[in-house]
Amino acid sequence: MSTQFATAQQSTLRSAADSLGIDIGVAVDDNLLQNDSTYRNVISEQFNSVTAENGMKMETVQPSQGNFDFSQGDRLVQFAQQNNMSVHGHTLVWHSQSPNWVQNLSGAEMEQAMVDHITTTMNHFEGDVDSWDVANEVVENGQLRNSFWLQGIGSDYIETAYSAARQADPGADLYLNDYSIDGINSKSDRYYQLAQDLTSQGLLDGMGFQAHLILGQVPGDMEQNLQRFADLGLDVRVTELDVRIDMPASQQELQQQADDFERVVNICTNIADCSGVTVWGLRDGDSWVPDTFDGQGAPLLYNDDYSTKPAYDAVLAALGGSQPPPPTETTEPPGTTEPPPPSGDCSAVIEVVNDWGSGWQANVSVTGPTDGWTLSWNWPGSQGISSSWNADITESGSSVTASDVGWNGSIASGQTQQVFGFIGSGPAVEPSVTCSAG
Ligand code: XIL
Repeated sequence: MSTQFATAQQSTLRSAADSLGIDIGVAVDDNLLQNDSTYRNVISEQFNSVTAENGMKMETVQPSQGNFDFSQGDRLVQFAQQNNMSVHGHTLVWHSQSPNWVQNLSGAEMEQAMVDHITTTMNHFEGDVDSWDVANEVVENGQLRNSFWLQGIGSDYIETAYSAARQADPGADLYLNDYSIDGINSKSDRYYQLAQDLTSQGLLDGMGFQAHLILGQVPGDMEQNLQRFADLGLDVRVTELDVRIDMPASQQELQQQADDFERVVNICTNIADCSGVTVWGLRDGDSWVPDTFDGQGAPLLYNDDYSTKPAYDAVLAALGGSQPPPPTETTEPPGTTEPPPPSGDCSAVIEVVNDWGSGWQANVSVTGPTDGWTLSWNWPGSQGISSSWNADITESGSSVTASDVGWNGSIASGQTQQVFGFIGSGPAVEPSVTCSAG
């Protein structure tokens, strides 16, 4: 059946985004990219676009004047090409993470250094980086930010930067990018002016909205705001999405977070010229948020053990995808069908939702009635559980038991709930499970 085929095809963020023709991107940490194969596998399976979290910033690329170091960017580009992903470049002209040497220049010297940085970097990545945040965070309090760039070069530095970028790689899409411009406000109004100005000179292709959001605070006019930039003839893009929560995060807050992510992705899919959504990191523990916003965290789609959060399911749903259906029942010849379990029994199914070769993720659902459950199964081979969530697990040889952790114990008669999940080792399997209630 075609719907089944479609469902099976769109069981990852990537396949769902591919079928919509948009990017689902992630900010990539160079260290993890080099050292963590699960990180690489999850990213290549779930995302079709990458951005260097830090590896293409000026302090990394040109630590001293004239000495360029593209090693981090090259690693990311190679990974992207091996996995058929697009690369969104970040960033060339920013007041932060810029080396001291450039901040100590002024006037014509600083302008030349800026142009050289743009030209050399974009020439190096020409054909490999599809789009660039040329200037990042250049507005503050409704006016041009009083950065060392503005002070050193004067207010035409932005136009100079975009002209240099256009010349350096005419094939790359040139973006502006900032935070707190997701809704309509004085900051996004100033960007609207700047975007009109650059667009009228043919120097701008896209507007990036970082969307570093606070739980429950997706601006009500975010779609209208993105649409007004799209109406200038620009692509719009959510470039650094995360939704931070006061720690510790409750189940209810994680659900609210899922709604917030879903809303933002829906806004992008509602706008014809939205090129995609990039999340600013893979797992909660990878995020910049806890280091930057005191007491806040858990802003991303994955837990630290690579299990998915409710926000992941919400993004997948917003992209029109869904988790793979439970394994199809084998059809028994007439007469040999097993009788239905006597009423009063619970039952359970293990479903593999992700398999990246070196590991796999399974979700487990239980059908009630039960007021507390204990599941047991046997591994057919060398399988094991490397981590799990929302269940107490005991493994002994090849036999496993898993029981509820209280809040997920009660399931009404005939209701099915996904109750826990785990990361498996060895070949992925979906063994049959015995459920005992109570
Ligand atoms: C952050 C990175 O995530 C951190 O690892 C780094 O220490 C600081 O920068 N806006 C941006 C991003 O444009 O470059 C920032 O990234 C987050 C805010």
